[in-house]
Amino acid sequence: MQAIRDAEPADLPFLHDVERDADRLFASVLGDVVWDASSGSWRAAQPGFLLVTGRPPVGFAHVLDLDGHLHVEQLCVRRRHQRLGLGGALLEAACEEAAARGVARITLMTYADIPWNGPFYTRHGFAELSAEQAQELPFITRLRAAEEALNLSDHGRRIMMARDLAPSSSSR
Ligand SMILES: CC(C)(COP(=O)(O)OP(=O)(O)OC[C@H]1O[C@@H](n2cnc3c(N)ncnc32)[C@H](O)[C@@H]1OP(=O)(O)O)[C@@H](O)C(=O)NCCC(=O)NCCS
Repeated sequence: MQAIRDAEPADLPFLHDVERDADRLFASVLGDVVWDASSGSWRAAQPGFLLVTGRPPVGFAHVLDLDGHLHVEQLCVRRRHQRLGLGGALLEAACEEAAARGVARITLMTYADIPWNGPFYTRHGFAELSAEQAQELPFITRLRAAEEALNLSDHGRRIMMARDLAPSSSSR
């Protein structure tokens, strides 16, 4: 198993291509959909944290700090390296880091019914929030605007999921 580590400046130029490659997995269920991938330098400049695996990276987890709430903005692994446990390991490392930062919960938005989205996150301890619960999140307006800009709900039911985190004393 490859180690999970904090992204370094040399990793950043690779992240856009990792995301583009990973997203091609959606072609099997959504057809020829192409989403804009963010640059690694944009990701690194946001409040939050960025974990990678591989050197050069073949997968990453990007967690945004939205005014103190931690939210998984992206999780992706190159198709050639998928289904080897890397995505799960990145997600678990992201949850550990979030717990070490003292938050009680981490959130994400995903497709409810695509196997490597909602069901994958359910297996990793995330649960769907009701529309009312999601509406109460202080950053929901900002997230919905980002979702709408990419027309994500055109392709399936989008859901907010959350995982409660046990308090942690460890830190990366
Ligand atoms: C989600 C993602 C990061 C998982 O990475 P990964 O390294 O394959 O993750 P793991 O190996 O830990 O677990 C993969 C599990 O996802 C599901 N999965 C992955 N690819 C699948 C496929 N083509 N068909 C059905 N299920 C699939 C399976 O449950 C699989 O477990 P299994 O191999 O034991 O059956 C990867 O699929 C990806 O990059 N997808 C495209 C981007 C994306 O959807 N990101 C999440 C946005 S919210």
